[in-house]
Amino acid sequence: MERTLSIIKPDATARNISGKVNAMIEEAGLKIIAQKLIRLTASQAEEFYQEHKDKAFFTSLVDFMTSAPVVVQVLEGEDAVARYRKIMGATNPAVAEEGTIRRTFALSIDKNTVHGSDSPESAKREIGFFFSKIEICE
Ligand code: CMP
Repeated sequence: MERTLSIIKPDATARNISGKVNAMIEEAGLKIIAQKLIRLTASQAEEFYQEHKDKAFFTSLVDFMTSAPVVVQVLEGEDAVARYRKIMGATNPAVAEEGTIRRTFALSIDKNTVHGSDSPESAKREIGFFFSKIEICE
């Protein structure tokens, strides 16, 4: 069993489709074992996305991620990190596979509906960033 950190992004909460995203996650067999709706501050978003701080899109990424609430969640399942990345589809929805969350709902490479950890090591850091042990259902 493995865990990954998922964020349902502001473009989804603003359009009231976080339930539809959750349905796709659950239909794909991943279990939501922790979940909360939060509004990120700029400093929280900057810290979360620290690996992108030198990228040209960093400021717009932080602005977008703080523009509306996000749903942060812990997903569990066999090979959860890689499986969720497959369910999400490519970062750019224009090239994401048919049937993926991003192909179905994302508006652009920025407003791309979901984030998922890119490795088990990132998942550990990202889950710890948002959740304490007591908030995760064993
Ligand atoms: P996410 O998985 O949340 O990680 C960083 C985010 O930066 C990414 O999804 C995209 O939404 C956003 N982003 C904006 N422009 C780019 C880009 N050119 N390449 C990668 N990510 C980008």
